[in-house]
Amino acid sequence: MKKVAIYPGTFDPITNGHLDIIQRASKIVDELVIAVAEDTGKTTLFTQKERTELVENEVKNLANVKVASFSGLVVNFFKEHQATFVIRGVRTIRDFENEFNMAIVNKKLFENYETLFIPANEIEQFTSSTNVRTLIKLGANIDNYVSLQVKNAILEKVK
Ligand code: COA
Repeated sequence: MKKVAIYPGTFDPITNGHLDIIQRASKIVDELVIAVAEDTGKTTLFTQKERTELVENEVKNLANVKVASFSGLVVNFFKEHQATFVIRGVRTIRDFENEFNMAIVNKKLFENYETLFIPANEIEQFTSSTNVRTLIKLGANIDNYVSLQVKNAILEKVK
């Protein structure tokens, strides 16, 4: 059976940390669908359409990776795509607590929902979309955290 995984997130914007998880996940599944969420409880800098386009640009060279946007519950997206499991990147114990909670809540909504945690790369431990947005607003260099195209998109947004 074809193994499809989904990787949901806000991606506001996509960082090198996300890309590391995407590249590693794409090697262990037949198809990886990145799911750019509308309903995340976060106030975003980029619209859902902009976030999706940025992700599409970043992964266009990965043959088995697709990008889609969704609204509403992630379990519904999971069902629609007949996914086998969900990928979540985990950086710290705090991430793990949040992710564990989310995994259980989602599994209660849909019994077949399985979460696969991938530990973040050591050098991405302190990467976050929030840090990236804050650093650029304060004029700091973000080259270590995002691609050039993402950096240019943020500069355009905040100018
Ligand atoms: N390296 C570096 N940074 C990473 C990372 C990694 N490997 N993995 C995550 N991050 C960072 C991100 O940059 C982001 O930083 P921020 O908090 O400063 O924005 C943060 O960790 C997590 O963001 P992201 O990976 O984009 O996902 P999310 O936690 O915002 O996504 C959803 C949450 C979309 C999965 C969740 O809100 C959802 O499922 N929403 C749909 C509605 C729903 O079903 N809700 C029920 C859930 S119980």
